Amino acid sequence: MTDITLVQGDITRQHADAIVNAANSSLLGGGGVDGAIHRRGGPAILEECRALRASRYGKGLPTGRAVATTAGELDARWVIHTVGPVWSATEDRSDLLASCYREALRVADELGARTVAFPAVSTGVYRWPMRDAARIAVETVRNTPTAVEEARFVLFDERAYEAFARQAG
Ligand code: AR6
Repeated sequence: MTDITLVQGDITRQHADAIVNAANSSLLGGGGVDGAIHRRGGPAILEECRALRASRYGKGLPTGRAVATTAGELDARWVIHTVGPVWSATEDRSDLLASCYREALRVADELGARTVAFPAVSTGVYRWPMRDAARIAVETVRNTPTAVEEARFVLFDERAYEAFARQAG
């Protein structure tokens, strides 16, 4: 059984086997979690991202998928990059958001990661409403068979923490 734990704070300060990045398809960095991970993790992460673009993901990493790189100078072995969907009021993209968590866990299992730190994917620049994102995140992690022992949601502010705490019960 996977333990779901919650902490409020900066995901780049976490110690875990793998830290999940809320990336974009380019894999070449951005703001929010992505910017923070590349800043603190150093250039080795971007170097591997560039190599992935040159090999497996010439057109970019598709939304809902996940891929691992080194974690550089972060206190982790791997960064698992996933691309959340941009929120849409007219189209239901929930399964793509769920897919980010499923795929990240699948990659974590391939790596042998036992502790994985997740941000609230899509709830920043991509504008997904926090309560709904929390529901999808917690339900998906609960319902995905995995050898990961701890799935730790790292929430940046109190509002996000409360939303996840309500779901995780
Ligand atoms: N630690 C934990 N959570 C954080 C941190 C941090 N250091 N910084 C922000 N958050 P976002 P997205 C929270 O925008 O919505 C980037 O430019 C934030 O408050 O990082 O999936 C990428 O390159 C929010 O609740 O990711 C993409 O272009 C959550 O993390 C795009 O943003 C996610 O916010 C992805 O947008």
